[in-house]
Amino acid sequence: MLSPTSTSESTMSNTQPVLEISNLTKHYGGVKALTEAGFRLMPGEHAAIVGDNGAGKSTFVRLITGVEQPNSGDIRLDGQSVSFDSPLDAREKGIETVYQTLALAEDLDVPANIFLGRELTRLNLGPLSVLNHKAMREQSASMLETTGVKIQDMSETLRGMSGGQRQCVAIARAAGFAKNLIILDEPTAALGVAETARVEQIIRGLKERGIPLIIISHNLRQVFDLVDRIWVFRQGRIICNRLKTQTNPEEIVGLITGAIDPADLPAEEAVAC
Ligand SMILES: Nc1ncnc2c1ncn2[C@@H]1O[C@H](COP(=O)(O)OP(=O)(O)OP(=O)(O)O)[C@@H](O)[C@H]1O
Ligand SMILES: [Mg+2]
Repeated sequence: MLSPTSTSESTMSNTQPVLEISNLTKHYGGVKALTEAGFRLMPGEHAAIVGDNGAGKSTFVRLITGVEQPNSGDIRLDGQSVSFDSPLDAREKGIETVYQTLALAEDLDVPANIFLGRELTRLNLGPLSVLNHKAMREQSASMLETTGVKIQDMSETLRGMSGGQRQCVAIARAAGFAKNLIILDEPTAALGVAETARVEQIIRGLKERGIPLIIISHNLRQVFDLVDRIWVFRQGRIICNRLKTQTNPEEIVGLITGAIDPADLPAEEAVAC
C-alpha cells in the first residue's frame, strides 16, 4: 500500500492544483461521514466522485463549499488555505455548485433564481437599491441560451416547473457564473434522456473553456464519457483515484464495493489519497 503522501508519476507535475484537500474529516456524533479525505484537482481537469449511497460524497461537497464546517482538515484553492463560512463565500471565490438537494427558490422566476444572492442593481443605495430586472432578464436569457437550456417562459416561477427543468436552471446558473471551479452533485439523477444529454454537452463546453469540474455520479457510462480522473469513496474514506485511461468500469465497481483492494492495484498506477 502506498503511503498517504505518495504520488504516482501521473499526478506529478510542476503545476499547482486548483484544489487540494488534506485530512478532511466530518463526524456527525457517532456517524463518520468523512475521515481524513485527501483530494486534488489540476487546472482544467474534470474529475468524478463515485461511491455507494452514504459513502460521504455529498458531505465532501458541503464541506468544501462552506455549507458545513469540517471537524478538521485543510482546503487549498490555488495554493491558498481557505475556509468558507457560507456557500456565498465560496461563490465569491468563483466556485459554483449544484447541490444534490437543489437550492432554488420555488416562488421566484428564472432570472430571480439565477441572480439569487448577487442581484444586479440600477441604483446602489444600500438597503434602498433598485434592482435592474431588465439586465437580469437579458443576462439570464443569454446564460440559458449559451448552455442550451430551453425554458419557454422565464417569468414563470419555479413552482410550475418539472424537476428536470429546475435542474437545468441550476446547472445553467452554475455554468454561467463558474470562474474557478464547478461542482455538480448527481446533476442528471432526475433527468430524462434528452436533458441528460444536454447537461453532458454543457459539461463538455466547460471542459473546452478550461473550467475545472467535479461531478458526483452513479452513472459509470457518464463518468467514463466525461472525466479525466475518478475518485472512489467508500465508507467515509477516499480510498483511491484512477486516471480514466488506466482503469475500466469493472475495476471501479470492484473498488466501490470493496471487491478490489486499492492496495492490490499496480503500484505505479495506484495513487493513494
Ligand atoms: N446532517 C447529517 N447528520 C447526521 N448524519 C449525516 C448528515 N449528513 C450526512 N450524514 C451521514 O453521513 C453519511 C454520508 O452521507 P452523504 O450524504 O455524504 O452520502 P453520499 O455519498 O452523498 O450518498 P448518496 O449517494 O446517497 O447521495 C451517511 O451515513 C449519512 O447518513
Ligand atoms: Mg449524496
